Amino acid sequence: MMAWVYVSWLLIMEAMAAHASTSTNFEEIKYPDSRLREDLQQLSDGLTEDNQYYSSLVHSRSLYDQQLSIAADCADHLMGGAITSGVYYIYPFTCSCRKPVPVWCDMETDGGGWTVFLTRQTQDSQVDFNRWWQEYKSGFGDPHGEYWLGNEHLHQMTSSRSYSVRVDFTSDAGVSYYLYRTFIKVASEAERYGLSLGAVASYNTSTGCFATSGSPSFSTKDQDYDSATGNCAVTKGGGWWYYNCLYNNPTSPYNSGLSFTCYPKRVIKLSKLQVKIRPTAFNSSLCRSCYQ
Ligand SMILES: *[C@@H]1O[C@H](CO)[C@@H](O)[C@H](O)[C@H]1NC(C)=O
Ligand SMILES: *[C@@H]1O[C@H](CO)[C@@H](O)[C@H](O)[C@H]1NC(C)=O
Repeated sequence: MMAWVYVSWLLIMEAMAAHASTSTNFEEIKYPDSRLREDLQQLSDGLTEDNQYYSSLVHSRSLYDQQLSIAADCADHLMGGAITSGVYYIYPFTCSCRKPVPVWCDMETDGGGWTVFLTRQTQDSQVDFNRWWQEYKSGFGDPHGEYWLGNEHLHQMTSSRSYSVRVDFTSDAGVSYYLYRTFIKVASEAERYGLSLGAVASYNTSTGCFATSGSPSFSTKDQDYDSATGNCAVTKGGGWWYYNCLYNNPTSPYNSGLSFTCYPKRVIKLSKLQVKIRPTAFNSSLCRSCYQ
């Protein structure tokens, strides 16, 4: 009887050791794909019977979360080996006291690594962009479709690293265009999320498709910080660095279709528009040679 108990005990210990080594595999993965996170979630949800295995998974998951918290943007995810465009969690904060933020990462355009902060597109149910200051501050919509990342996140990101910015849009006739600027910075809320842009470095549309004058403040229907007599956020709709209402209005409402204005007066009918940022120091050839 004692021998049988002893052998059983040995077998249990062996099984636990096997489980433990399974879990250490997760720890070795430095920057796993977000799908792994879902897999882990499903696994740990389903494994309520085996407490040992369950707690080792929970342990792996918390380690995994700590490792993920290194990703401040989509360029970090790309450098970590995530080469597929999709929704990823980023931690654009210097402390771990804030929640991770889901964003759409464009991992294809010009080497990838782009954190998309605005998406407009025709979709089943359009997102309402006619929103308050607080909503533009914290972000809204769904990163799988139309969304605004949030001015506070933009401020946090662009004040911790130097970023470039790119606008990609496709007209309703299916022609794509882009415009790339060397630098973007969004000031703090106390500074009304003022926008600074660097020079246009490359483009195949008019430079007026992402242009402004000076360092304009952000403006919404309830906080009018533009330089016009009226409130551009009311006349154009949405929220933006409007300045004098003449530049761009990519957040204007869906009105039997999407459109926006390239300075000075060219109205483009859109099927899709994205505005995205990437660290200025990002080097796509370096990244390719490391991870492909
Ligand atoms: C502009 O450049 C983008 C990205 O390289 C490309 O997909 C698109 O076809 C170009 N559009 C025109 C009109 O040349
Ligand atoms: C990017 O890295 C490659 C490979 O190290 C290098 O040849 C190239 O000059 C770099 N490009 C920039 C813009 O720094």
